[in-house]
Amino acid sequence: MGSFVIEGGRRLEGQVRMSGAKNAILPIMAATLLCPGDCFIHEVPDLRDVTVMTDILRSLGVKVEAGRGGDGGRSLTIHAGGLNTHVGPGDLMGQMRSSIFVMGPILARLGRATVAYPGGCAIGPRPIDLHLRGLSALGAKFRERYGHIEAEAVALRGGEVHLDFPSVGATENVMMAAILAEGTTVIRNAAREPEIADLQRFLNAMGGRVSGAGSDSVRVDGVATLHGAEHSVIPDRIEAGTFLAAVGVAGGHVEFRNVVGEHIEAAMAKMREAGLIITEGRSGLMVTATARLRAVDFKTLPYPGFPTDLQPQAMALMTVAEGTSLITETVFDKRFNHVEELSRMGARIRVEGRAAVVEGVPGLSGAEVAAPDLRGGMALVIAGLAAEGVTKVRGTEHIDRGYEGLEAKLSALGAAIGRE
Ligand code: UD1
Repeated sequence: MGSFVIEGGRRLEGQVRMSGAKNAILPIMAATLLCPGDCFIHEVPDLRDVTVMTDILRSLGVKVEAGRGGDGGRSLTIHAGGLNTHVGPGDLMGQMRSSIFVMGPILARLGRATVAYPGGCAIGPRPIDLHLRGLSALGAKFRERYGHIEAEAVALRGGEVHLDFPSVGATENVMMAAILAEGTTVIRNAAREPEIADLQRFLNAMGGRVSGAGSDSVRVDGVATLHGAEHSVIPDRIEAGTFLAAVGVAGGHVEFRNVVGEHIEAAMAKMREAGLIITEGRSGLMVTATARLRAVDFKTLPYPGFPTDLQPQAMALMTVAEGTSLITETVFDKRFNHVEELSRMGARIRVEGRAAVVEGVPGLSGAEVAAPDLRGGMALVIAGLAAEGVTKVRGTEHIDRGYEGLEAKLSALGAAIGRE
């Protein structure tokens, strides 16, 4: 288990380029299973979750090769000519919740799929009932045995799917299954995240007929076959929001490249309210923090609301803001695992159910803390940038799931961060 070691108190100055989005590349990798042709994916971030998904695809008999695209960025060539119905060892599926994405495409292409229950961050119960109900509406039958789910569908048929909650993963899984189904599928109360629109672009590049992604109603007209395609993954909006919080705590002036302002509107609005100066230019964002930020209240919601994946990092920012902030988490039941560790660094936080009251303190002090999960771990790194003295964040493997070259990017901006 590795650690990040951070010496706090350095201002951030310079330029940082966002990587391709983790939450876009994972479903797109799963979607390559829908066709036997070659798929070329660019702007692929080098993340542990991408490695796990690569291993899952390989366990299915799929060829995955990493290379460099024309722009020098990382690319993947994926060829799912051969495809098994059974996803490799259960421990592979257990490492990441997104592993459930492979179910829809395998079922669509082969008529059956066996997968182990997915794992992922320990941020409260994360059932897959919406995925299963959505696929059932297209005619799939499920059987649960020995910790595995066996799915079967002689022929998937388009249907009406109404999601009780706009689940990102369930929307994507149903889109991928519906694309080879007979007839039309309409997903209502669909999630509206930009990564879903990116998946739609990739599916349509493969010859699919999908529309409406980005709204709460997604329509999929089934097609008989799909072909290989080329695609560049959208920039990671959660990484961008994370770096906004980092500039907010450390102070300084940073130019963000490869960022879509529209995708981080909610985060930018809150950060501006807190006092961060953000200007949008043609090549990216200019972000400046000159003084201690003010406390603001925020509530996590499905897109376009404030993203739950930025709640821990924004909380780290609020620990050193002036005033008291009320943070309400509505997407996940138990996403406050980082609170205890932030408190060890001197933060004053009280949790009551789904709300956290953060009383800003003038400064944090460096401590040895443990990353509880991916975004919670990143909140501790941000707190470390603000803290006096040295902070050691154990559990780099959590943070490496979602941040490409984190210490290189932060060091280039002048932070004192290393890995042990
Ligand atoms: C995706 C993101 C994750 C983010 C989350 C919410 C990817 C790869 N991951 O995860 O980073 O935190 O969206 O923005 O895109 N739920 C059910 N039943 C289901 C599915 C979900 O009850 O079948 C609940 C979950 O427990 C959770 C809520 O719905 O409380 C949101 O989950 P969902 O949108 O599905 O998140 P993921 O797709 O897993």
